[in-house]
Amino acid sequence: MRCIRRTMSTTTTTTTPINTRILRVNPESIVFKKDQILPHILDKETEDNLNIASEQLKSLNVIGFPTETVYGLGGSALSDKSVQPIYRAKNRPADNPLIVHISSIQQLKSKLLPSNTEIPNIYKPLIDKFWPGPLTILLRNDPQNSPISSFVTGNQDTFAVRMPQHPVARALIAISDLPLAAPSANSSTKPSPTMAKHVYFDLNGKIPLILDGGSSNVGVESTVVDGLSSPPMLLRPGGISLEEIKEVGGKQWENIQIAKNLKDDSNEKAKTPGMKYKHYSPNAKVILFINCGDGLKIMKEYIEKHNLEKSKIAILKTRNFQNLEGIEIIKSLGVVGEEISRNLFKLLREVDEEANIDYIFVEGIDETNEGLAIMNRLNKAAVEVIKL
Ligand code: TXA
Ligand code: MG
Repeated sequence: MRCIRRTMSTTTTTTTPINTRILRVNPESIVFKKDQILPHILDKETEDNLNIASEQLKSLNVIGFPTETVYGLGGSALSDKSVQPIYRAKNRPADNPLIVHISSIQQLKSKLLPSNTEIPNIYKPLIDKFWPGPLTILLRNDPQNSPISSFVTGNQDTFAVRMPQHPVARALIAISDLPLAAPSANSSTKPSPTMAKHVYFDLNGKIPLILDGGSSNVGVESTVVDGLSSPPMLLRPGGISLEEIKEVGGKQWENIQIAKNLKDDSNEKAKTPGMKYKHYSPNAKVILFINCGDGLKIMKEYIEKHNLEKSKIAILKTRNFQNLEGIEIIKSLGVVGEEISRNLFKLLREVDEEANIDYIFVEGIDETNEGLAIMNRLNKAAVEVIKL
């Protein structure tokens, strides 16, 4: 049995609480016709609420909104005044840059890129296939002349950008005509939110508004790729798999390298700064089991070794784990990758918030296709990883 122990770090700040409203929007009532910049909205309540949200953004406030990956905490990427509160609300370390969200290529060109700048060719096949969708790319940024707030990029010479597929996210960006800097709308170190109630749980009193557009369908964040470096790099696995990038990207992406997953306490400069921080952890301790068959022997041994009470343990199983007698909270994350992605953060939060437990035992999966992103998140959430 191989055990890897981790340490946790936390930070706190205080701000005056504000009233957080939740407004409903219906994604199905929003229609983007090809080549149209503004959406057609069939439902009056949805249109009204999108307009209220858009006014908040124009007033440089930050709000919670749904994307297809996870809920985002968005503010205008063009203003320091709206980007700084994002870091404050989340308690996010200042050296972890944000992704800019756009609603169209035209907006990317007119608002973010210097005139006559083309998007590098290497991205073309990926953009054609995966935008709008859960793929983030890095583009060049000139900190001296960039319209993007330096708090978004941490003054780096690149910025990260994606076009979300969720109709509510896209409509919000199009109507406000503001590219939005938006990290996941959770408190730093907590699991990312896939429902409006998760955002409310973490950020109630810190932001004026959350748009509720139902559950996020993908469930893990976007894939971040760097096509500016040679070879190109996968900086964060996510909603688009490495296999899909290689297949669609063709020759230029066939040698894509996976960025080294740096540990929390590393002094090494992270290629993508977000990777060195503790992430995705519920209050209960996550113990990740990899390659442990039906799990029965290894879980029993673990419980005995650490003298744990079974009533304080929940199990999230995937493909092979069997129910362990005496443990009542046993939930299935799903069997296929898409299902496991969609349920991962939701169930980590659910068992943590609804049950009085101290440990969550999670059954890992292999790192192919969706498995790479799932295991990346689980490895970061875990205080201990047990591999057979
Ligand atoms: O799906 C998503 O991407 C969600 C939704 C809300 O769109 N957003 C999200 O943002 O996950 P965030 O801030 O939690 O993650 C941004 C990731 C971090 O790993 C960060 O280090 C990396 O993107 N990143 C941002 N700008 C970068 C840059 N210029 N160079 C390298 N990595 C960058
Ligand atoms: Mg995040």
